[in-house]
This record gives sequence, C-alpha cells and structure tokens, in this order.
Amino acid sequence: MKLDRVIAKHRSLGRNEAHRLIAAGRVQVDAVVTMGNQVEVDRFQQVQLDDEVVQAAERALYLMLHKPAGVVSATVDAEHRTVVDLIDDPDKALLHIAGRLDRWSTGLVLLTNDGRWSKRLMEAGAKVPKHYVVGTAQPIPAEAVAAFAEGFYFAKEGITTLPAELEILAESQARVMLHEGRHHQIKRMFGRCGCEVISLHRQSIGALALPENLQPGQWRALSEMEKVAALTPACPPPSGHAAG
Ligand code: URA
Repeated sequence: MKLDRVIAKHRSLGRNEAHRLIAAGRVQVDAVVTMGNQVEVDRFQQVQLDDEVVQAAERALYLMLHKPAGVVSATVDAEHRTVVDLIDDPDKALLHIAGRLDRWSTGLVLLTNDGRWSKRLMEAGAKVPKHYVVGTAQPIPAEAVAAFAEGFYFAKEGITTLPAELEILAESQARVMLHEGRHHQIKRMFGRCGCEVISLHRQSIGALALPENLQPGQWRALSEMEKVAALTPACPPPSGHAAG
C-alpha cells in the first residue's frame, strides 16, 4: 500500500492531510523519515507518525529446508509428514512453499510468508533457474538433450515446456535446469524419452545452492544475501551436493 494511504487510513484523514504530515517529516518507515507519498509500504515494515505506531511490522520468514524423501511438499496433510512439520517456529502456520517437490524427491525447498517474494521466484518470466540431479532406470538417450531444449507439449495444460537444459552425467544420471515448475515436469519429460525417474534431487534455486552442511530434514533461515541469490537469473549449476 502507498504510504499516504497507510497514514490516511489510520487517522481517517483525506489524502491531502496525509501528504501534509508526510511533507512535514513526521512519518517514519522502519525508523527512517520518509517524505515520499507514493512510497510502497508492505506489511513487513513499521510505519510511525511522530511517536505513534501506525502499522506494526509483521515478522517476515524466509527459510530453506533440505527435504528428505517421503515427506510431502504441503502445509497440512492427513496422511503424511509435511515439510512444515519439520520446522520448529512459532509462526510456521503462516508459511507457504515456493516451489514444491514430489513426495519422493529430495533437496532444496524454500518456505516463506512473503507472497511477493515467492511469486517472483516462481514466475517463469523471472527466469530463475532450478538445477536438479536425476537418476533414471534406463540409459538416457543422447537425443533427449535436444528434446529437452525444444520443449514438450503437455496436453493436460495445453502448453509447451520452456527450453530446459539436460546434461548427461553418466549412463543413467543427468543434471536438468528448468525455469518453471509444472506438475511432475521432470518425470514427464524423461517419460517422453523412455526413461523412468528413480531419484530426483533439487540442488539449487537461482544462485542459492543447498548447503553441504544442511542435512536431510534440517532447515534454517536465509540470510539477506541468500534471499537475493535465490532470485538470480541465469546461473551455472552448483558444484557438489549432487544427491539427497
Ligand atoms: N519435477 C518432477 O517431476 N518432480 C519434482 O519433484 C520436481 C520436478
């Protein structure tokens, strides 16, 4: 919401009166005097008029988790343990998942209560790359590299997948880079190439790689730098942490 609206709403004032208070230097956003009426303020920022708190800052949560196999990427589930069950935080009920993994997939999962950040992460147009290491039951055919780059038509969604990079690491192991996350996307793409996926591990999102020392089931808060790193487009694959 724009700063003038926050002030006007709180005091039931007209916009002009709110502008006058802001221009007089009486309004602070996160303890800094702010003179711009049109400054965008989100719910994680504190707004003050003189000594009065007009809007208290909500606690923003940005977490990474090393998802183990068998846990579902959901906030609640009647049958299975969820990624949120693994987190020990008083505000965990507010979390949502920024990019799910299938139940038997492992690796990096991000959780947050900031919808604007997660939207930026997941928008295909934002070109945030996600790297996965995939194991298959059958040898991966060389032609799969071109097929992944070209894209596959998914009749269910009526879309063609965005160009994806496939790097064959061994007869039945490959690294995949995607810019989107359709339902069971990697399994379906390999299925079109005659390969059943038997293991799938997400190594990184943007320039944020799953840390070597974060064991399956462990989680921690992201640093400010890591929050930005996750949004970085066009990154090379990470080194290390190839398997879950
Ligand atoms: N694609 C899949 O098929 N499964 C995942 O968990 C992630 C991407």
